[in-house]
Amino acid sequence: GKFVIITIDGPAGAGKSTVAKKVAHTLGYEYLDTGALYRAIALYLRDKKVPPVESDEMRTALSNVDIHFEKERIYLDGRDVSAEIRTVEIETIVSSYAKLSMVREKLLEIQRKLGSLGNIVADGRDMGTVVFPEAILKIYLNAELKERAKRRWNDIKASGRDLSLEEVEVQLKKRDEEDSKRKHSPLRVPDGAFVIDSTDLTADQIAERVVELAENVI
Ligand code: C5P
Repeated sequence: GKFVIITIDGPAGAGKSTVAKKVAHTLGYEYLDTGALYRAIALYLRDKKVPPVESDEMRTALSNVDIHFEKERIYLDGRDVSAEIRTVEIETIVSSYAKLSMVREKLLEIQRKLGSLGNIVADGRDMGTVVFPEAILKIYLNAELKERAKRRWNDIKASGRDLSLEEVEVQLKKRDEEDSKRKHSPLRVPDGAFVIDSTDLTADQIAERVVELAENVI
């Protein structure tokens, strides 16, 4: 392609979005948050009372949806849903919609289009395997479950919610399992990816390493 694509895949809470944003900022690229797309679709279908099973109703709903980013905020039919998609409620349902090929095909189109408009750092679950297999640099960011749960729990507390660390850990584990075991585009280490364990590293340290790797290939 004409543009540089860097992908960052990994389980929930590994620090992908923080690292991806820093790398994009350093290199002057756009950040593509594909988890936000899946969250927005889950919110959209839930609000329309379309259950997570493929149906004609779902196909019609998906063909009518308008999702776009503007300055790292996400808009659903013109409404800024950036905060609403981060709730625990959406996190408990998002994987059940994300496993459907009807949903993934719709988002594949949107993601590839966004990848054709400029240099990007894209994070998600299938960036290096399915959406951008041609990416010049692929990262797989992982961390121990306990550490990922702790990070997620801190975010949740900061948003004013009261959930125990144990509940957060159980939920995170369940979501990772659903994302890893599904038939379509499961979470995998892409061929040729650099695997980084973020358990004992700061986001700045990881971002620096990714920028170094990028500078060697672009
Ligand atoms: O990264 P984030 O936690 O925001 O992703 C939310 C959910 O969206 C994931 O748990 C997964 O079910 C789905 N997702 C996906 N493929 C991607 C990005 C996210 O299936 N590329």
